[in-house]
Amino acid sequence: MLPFLHRMKKIIITIDGWSSCGKSTLAKQLAKSLGYVYIDSGAMYRAITLYFLRNHIDWTDVKEVNGALNNILLHFEFNPKSQQSEIFLNDENVEYVIRDLVVAEKVSDVAAIKEVREFAVAQQQKMGEQKGIVMDGRDIGTTVFPNAELKIFMTADSAIRVERRFKELYEKNPNITIEEVKANLELRDYIDSHREISPLRKADDAFVLDNTNLTMSEQFEIVFLRVAKVLL
Ligand code: DC
Repeated sequence: MLPFLHRMKKIIITIDGWSSCGKSTLAKQLAKSLGYVYIDSGAMYRAITLYFLRNHIDWTDVKEVNGALNNILLHFEFNPKSQQSEIFLNDENVEYVIRDLVVAEKVSDVAAIKEVREFAVAQQQKMGEQKGIVMDGRDIGTTVFPNAELKIFMTADSAIRVERRFKELYEKNPNITIEEVKANLELRDYIDSHREISPLRKADDAFVLDNTNLTMSEQFEIVFLRVAKVLL
């Protein structure tokens, strides 16, 4: 954390945008430099999806969904080894298993369910009560924290996003193909931006960051200037 920052007011920073734009990389960098908590809201939808898949929940049936949500406890714990907060589903660390394509293929459908969104959003808003957080997702600046002090909307060329996600998934599963990854990203972006409740869209007061041609450090510098403007 930068030394003078502990004396400053704490704010909420929201990062929304398309899949695989590098939202979490930026969010983690920001949280680290500001001494803030980073919350990956997508991990919550992924963990709920994992629970539904494992327990064969029919998520077209509201009763089943509500029953299942009553049995789900989510929390984040900071892991000093990986230097990041990791998500727990009923006391099991599921941070890595939720990144699987099996979960990615269903998560947008599950995240479109009203009851699921209400469940996740209520918890996300609680996590922001003390401020000093960076949260990334799809509806954070529009629905979860409409009064956040700094809102970022990230985008990048779709071919670049596919390539980035492919590289990430290929490391864990060399059988994966680029076509599969492309199809999944396109489908998720479509469902996420066309669903009825809290679809992905830029908040009117969000600042757009297109990182197609930016390095990670260039991107960080641009955003950090914005943070400084709000804090100083
Ligand atoms: O950020 P991610 O790719 O891990 O998110 C997984 C899915 O969760 C994404 O396809 C849409 C959904 N999601 C959402 O609907 N709202 C959020 N705030 C975060 C994620």
